[in-house]
Amino acid sequence: MNAGTSRRRMVALVAALGGALAISVSAQPQAPIVIKFSHVVATDTPKGLASEFFAKRAAELTKGKAKVEVYANSQLYKDKEEMEALQLGAVQMLAPSLAKFGPLGVKEFEVFDLPFIFDDYKSLHKVTQGPLGKQLLDKLETKGIKGLAYWDNGFKSFSANKAIRTPADMKGLKLRIQSSKVLDEEIRALGGVPQVMAFSEVYQALQTGVVDGTENPISNLYTQKMHEVQKYLTITEHGYLGYAVIVNKKFWDGLPADVRGPLEQAMKEATDYANKIAKEQNDLDLEAVKKAGRTQVYVPTKEERMAFKKALVPVHKTMESRIGADLIKSIYKETGFDPGKL
Ligand code: LMR
Repeated sequence: MNAGTSRRRMVALVAALGGALAISVSAQPQAPIVIKFSHVVATDTPKGLASEFFAKRAAELTKGKAKVEVYANSQLYKDKEEMEALQLGAVQMLAPSLAKFGPLGVKEFEVFDLPFIFDDYKSLHKVTQGPLGKQLLDKLETKGIKGLAYWDNGFKSFSANKAIRTPADMKGLKLRIQSSKVLDEEIRALGGVPQVMAFSEVYQALQTGVVDGTENPISNLYTQKMHEVQKYLTITEHGYLGYAVIVNKKFWDGLPADVRGPLEQAMKEATDYANKIAKEQNDLDLEAVKKAGRTQVYVPTKEERMAFKKALVPVHKTMESRIGADLIKSIYKETGFDPGKL
């Protein structure tokens, strides 16, 4: 056997081995694409339940090609860190409250924090499910983020260790807020002292008296057991708290089309689900708070609620320079809200 023949045999052997290797590799099931979805609330909240629903439908519709791992209750990241983690690609999906986009440089989302700007879910959905909502989500793209959907939680009420009936009762109270300049102004308009704090730290801050009170949709108050460390809850429903479901844009755009398409469908279904259960969940949790008997629940009269409205609607004007007068006006146009008619 000359040198040329033995080289040819060697090449043939390597090719055969390579082929066998390729067959055994392609016979291996493909590892799923993992999507880490981090959030800060409990699993039995509107956001917690909707993210689990999304994970289930994502697995079904992609036939196992994508696996959504949900990390609830700030177990991976707290409020501020989770935004950084998304941009760095350490997690792929989040659903932060709309009040938490200011520090990212997208202040326009704080329009959702303006007190009393939405009367109910119906007027809110005109914005979140319409062209205005889409325009706002598109603003995230320059930050390397893609906005996929809006998920509801609900309307916030004040709780404290002091009974709250009138705006004057808020004077001097230290109140925890989310990181939104509009919420800061809201508390100042009532004579309170706002304190920004991560959601995961609120229970302890209330328990130890670092702050006197806070504002929450009831689902957040109840599932974090805040009602056990707050003597009074007044159903003011003075502002909205909801979420934008967001993904790392580079990750999302890089997904194979046969995975992204089914994921978009799963997100659509999860959004319908989230927005269907949000009110039900908050109503159930209010009943549970009442039943627990640890906090006194007060429903203000029409006149009492109007006093809060009159004290807080001027915040819309004060915040024009931050959010944009045009954006605020276009929300009024969509919802029919008229600040002149109080
Ligand atoms: C809060 O910090 O109070 C909320 O944004 C928590 C949440 O995600 O609902």
